Amino acid sequence: MTTKVYRLVLLLGCFFLVESINMDDFFPDINGNLTKITWAHAVNNKTYLAASLNSSAIMMLEADVIYGKINGSGELIPIMGHPPATQSDLSLEEFLTTIYNFNKDENNRKVRKGVKLDFKSTEVFTKSVDFIKKQYNQIDYPLWINADIIRGPLNFETVPVDPNIFLSTAKAFDKSVLSLGWTTTRPTMGLAYNNAEVNAMIEVIKENDVKQEITFAVRAGIAAQSLAEMKLLKDEVNNCTLTIWSSEGDEVDVPKLRDLIFEYGIKRVYVDVPKDLRDRLDLGNK
Ligand SMILES: *[C@@H]1O[C@H](CO)[C@@H](O)[C@H](O)[C@H]1NC(C)=O
Ligand SMILES: *[C@@H]1O[C@H](CO)[C@@H](O)[C@H](O)[C@H]1NC(C)=O
Ligand SMILES: *[C@@H]1O[C@H](CO)[C@@H](O)[C@H](O)[C@H]1NC(C)=O
Ligand SMILES: *[C@@H]1O[C@H](CO)[C@@H](O)[C@H](O)[C@H]1NC(C)=O
Ligand SMILES: *[C@@H]1O[C@H](CO)[C@@H](O)[C@H](O)[C@H]1NC(C)=O
Repeated sequence: MTTKVYRLVLLLGCFFLVESINMDDFFPDINGNLTKITWAHAVNNKTYLAASLNSSAIMMLEADVIYGKINGSGELIPIMGHPPATQSDLSLEEFLTTIYNFNKDENNRKVRKGVKLDFKSTEVFTKSVDFIKKQYNQIDYPLWINADIIRGPLNFETVPVDPNIFLSTAKAFDKSVLSLGWTTTRPTMGLAYNNAEVNAMIEVIKENDVKQEITFAVRAGIAAQSLAEMKLLKDEVNNCTLTIWSSEGDEVDVPKLRDLIFEYGIKRVYVDVPKDLRDRLDLGNK
């Protein structure tokens, strides 16, 4: 009897562990072509959040979370912003509540948004966990949890988020896609993710026995130079996807980036890049 109950609990536990919010179901119009998902990048203030929610052309909101002060005064709390910023007019709490209310509204049924939160430090991640947990059970839209957890090429200043703290704490967010990246710097010609950096990532994922779906957040200009390393990730991490992002003005070898995208296939690549780069990728023309 006890064994049976225990088995049932185990079974349910496993069931819930693998029940992530499927991007293809949430965005049925893309027909499984993940490159069709559209992004608003750095949604870190009220004005841009309102504009992004108001735009039916946007599907995912990418935003950064730092430890700072609302308008520069009061307590230190998790706020929306990208380093070196230390203040913002938008707290993480208000950001998440605004999106929650937007998505709950029946009138917005067809234009609901997903969210990717990019945590910029171990401290702000651990300080944000309790608040996210309060909303988490009610959330039926994609909420990705992202951090740069491994030191990447040529960036000696940014301290990565502690990979073990991040991956073990993020186990609570069992229906989220975990988005994992390397600290980066603006790509210069030939800058690539090297074998040691990629292996360090694979190792922490295995050590922490990650169960969620994983997407690797890679910077377009650097990833384009790293086809062999990107293939290694694909071979080692079951069902992983890539999220290719870029900053305005990054130098990118477009033919090599196209090779990378088609190596994974359009069902396994998200493209969060400025419009001019997206157009140059010419993804309809394989
Ligand atoms: C709000 O965010 C957008 C996108 O990151 C940015 O372009 C804009 O300058 C920001 N506005 C303010 C007032 O910070
Ligand atoms: C929302 O979008 C409509 C047009 O689609 C525009 O007229 C309106 O100004 C927008 N509102 C905000 C807050 O951006
Ligand atoms: C922060 O500043 C913005 C204007 O930039 C204002 O609308 C908002 O009310 C301020 N928030 C607080 C909590 O003072
Ligand atoms: C994950 O990969 C396995 C093969 O390794 C495949 O059979 C399965 O369909 C994949 N699952 C998803 C959700 O893509
Ligand atoms: C996938 O989406 C891209 C736009 O991101 C489009 O150009 C391409 O034609 C689509 N491919 C397929 C096979 O649907």
